[in-house]
Amino acid sequence: MSQVLSKSPKHCANKQGFTIKKQHKKFFCIFSSFFTSILSLILLLWLILHPSKPQFTLKEADIYQLNLSDSHLLNSSMQFTLLSKNPNQKVGIYYDQIQIYAAYKGQQITVDTLLPPFYQGHQDSNLLTASLVGTGLPVAPSFGYEVGRDQTAGKFVVNVKMNGKLRWKVGTWVSGHYRFNVNCVAVLPFGPSLPTPPLTSNQGTLCSTSV
Ligand SMILES: *[C@@H]1O[C@H](CO)[C@@H](O)[C@H](O)[C@H]1NC(C)=O
Ligand SMILES: *[C@@H]1O[C@H](CO)[C@@H](O)[C@H](O)[C@H]1NC(C)=O
Repeated sequence: MSQVLSKSPKHCANKQGFTIKKQHKKFFCIFSSFFTSILSLILLLWLILHPSKPQFTLKEADIYQLNLSDSHLLNSSMQFTLLSKNPNQKVGIYYDQIQIYAAYKGQQITVDTLLPPFYQGHQDSNLLTASLVGTGLPVAPSFGYEVGRDQTAGKFVVNVKMNGKLRWKVGTWVSGHYRFNVNCVAVLPFGPSLPTPPLTSNQGTLCSTSV
């Protein structure tokens, strides 16, 4: 480079260096303004469309088995039906991963179960059914006592927890992955005068969702 420069007349070399610099600058200007406009377009689209969180409603909860052995090993079997709704008019949702389990007073009482992934179109609703089981699942020694207390109180409260990954779809553009969490509360009538399992509850409680 320096050899070429030293051979060519001084003023010419200076000029050449100047034009290259100018071209670089021009190219950089075009590139950065192109980039900025694309970014602001995406941001604008995002602000206009602003996807709302998906909605989940717990429609039915059935507990078939809840059986404790050695006072800390639990066998459980239950089924939950949830209604999933996409409230967005212009945004579709890919649920790529959905994991669901049941919890009682902060303790997991079934194993994690994966639901099949699916796509949810604009304002579509889907019913999700999950059969959850636990076999020999270790629980705190207070579990039996807590269930006894709930039985006296006449209601059994169980949480249905879901988490996973979703992607938004706007037109043909698909976003990256976003984590989501859902928490539903099922209150089942349960008491000494009521029949023991299955416990059933039909309700329409809206679950809390965070994305
Ligand atoms: C617990 O298990 C025993 C033996 O399998 C069964 O007889 C009993 O009905 C079960 N109890 C509940 C609440 O499922
Ligand atoms: C839990 O399930 C296991 C395997 O099916 C069985 O061996 C055990 O007796 C069950 N325990 C109770 C309390 O039902």
